[in-house]
Amino acid sequence: MYWLSIDRRQKVPLIRQVYEQMRLRILSGDLRQGEKLPSTRELAQHLRVSRNVILEAYDQLLAEGYIHSLRGSGSYVAQGAYLKQFEVEPLLPAKPVEIAKSEAKDIIDFRNGIPALDMFPRKKWGQLFQNICTNAPSSVFGYHAAQGRMELRQVLAHYLIRSRGVRCDPNQVIITTGAIQGICIASQLLVSENDLVVTEDPMAISIRKIFIQAGAAHYPVPVDEHGIQVSRIPVDKKPRLIYITPAHQYPLGATLTVQRRVELVQIARDTGCYIVEDNYDNEFRFEGTAVSSLQGLEPERVIYIGTFSKILSPSLRIGYMVVPPSLIKPSRAIKDLLDHHSPSLNQLVLARFIEEGHFERHIFKMKKIYRKRQECLIESLTEHFPHRCSVKGYSTGLHIVAEFDDVVFSDLVAADLVKAGVRIYPAEMYAVNKGSHRNKIILGYGNVNEEVIKEGVIRIASVI
Ligand SMILES: Cc1ncc(COP(=O)(O)O)c(C=O)c1O
Repeated sequence: MYWLSIDRRQKVPLIRQVYEQMRLRILSGDLRQGEKLPSTRELAQHLRVSRNVILEAYDQLLAEGYIHSLRGSGSYVAQGAYLKQFEVEPLLPAKPVEIAKSEAKDIIDFRNGIPALDMFPRKKWGQLFQNICTNAPSSVFGYHAAQGRMELRQVLAHYLIRSRGVRCDPNQVIITTGAIQGICIASQLLVSENDLVVTEDPMAISIRKIFIQAGAAHYPVPVDEHGIQVSRIPVDKKPRLIYITPAHQYPLGATLTVQRRVELVQIARDTGCYIVEDNYDNEFRFEGTAVSSLQGLEPERVIYIGTFSKILSPSLRIGYMVVPPSLIKPSRAIKDLLDHHSPSLNQLVLARFIEEGHFERHIFKMKKIYRKRQECLIESLTEHFPHRCSVKGYSTGLHIVAEFDDVVFSDLVAADLVKAGVRIYPAEMYAVNKGSHRNKIILGYGNVNEEVIKEGVIRIASVI
């Protein structure tokens, strides 16, 4: 037994060290089936540990079937515990988890869809969390209904009816881990292999993947300054699902006109298809009031999707879907299969956050900040690219589209920009049918302050 050793500097308990080394020797065949183990007294003496340490390690091996003992005769390696081993990396002591401070600090990143992370209402959220965590009944820490906490569904339904003209009651609301999960549930629910799914083109890459993975026949329809060109939807091919972002087309920024909304609803009624309305950032509307939902026009055929990723933080992973009454049960069943339910404590904190008015105050405050950032970005672009660049899609949200007269944003240009310390997102990368958006870039301004925005545009100008 000279191959066993004890390292007292390790944080691993002695029993565990003995048990683990023996277990590995048995599995690897170093200790052969039927071989007699040293007596506990002998091994304890050899390793200079108390006999109890060896007794407990042997007990554990016995309980797991690695060894067996014969009364009065000692312990033996059991049959059938040998497993041919592959090279295994030695276990290194775990390092304490470090939270990454900031990656690639000096790159200015105009990534879209990221809110101002330094403006998260930490204090209020923390207070509410602590309060709920301390005072909630213990049942809150158990499993819950897949659909989500009623407290949150109630305040959300109320908010959506009031601010978005969504027609729903709390039973139609399903709490998800974000818009993306809502779209996944809708896809699993409605799309089978080869079903026709119509989407806008360009569109979010991750959402396109959802439909492709479902085996759908994907039919991208181009958008113009009024949103998806509804007249180009192949009605005769009987689409199963139409996915759109009518309040703020992602990524080009158009708002779908009422005429096209009416046409869309008519298509859904005539063909029996469903519309998935993704309302990812409509809260930050800078022109007029928030756009009413398409769902309000036809609640039986529209699945309304929303998220708190842009208003509060993507790390919360809270979103929701409002489904027609006929789809409540099957949507609930899919959510249950995916992850049982979204985390309850966060749901309760959010419900209280909305109920006490902090949510709408936060939106109000952030809207002012984002408006200033947007103005700064547009002014900087105008200053550095006079008569060369026009800005589009600025009515809503956390990004704009900058269209250049004389630049093609190839991968090479994007790479040169990174070398100059700025990351931009060519609109072409979101295009399904390539070629129409090569002179446009999507610039997110949610998570960059005005000083950084100005410097970022200077860096863009240094390259193009
Ligand atoms: C079009 C669109 N909808 C919704 C979302 C938000 O997804 P989630 O709520 O899952 O964070 C995104 C992600 O950025 C998006 O691009």
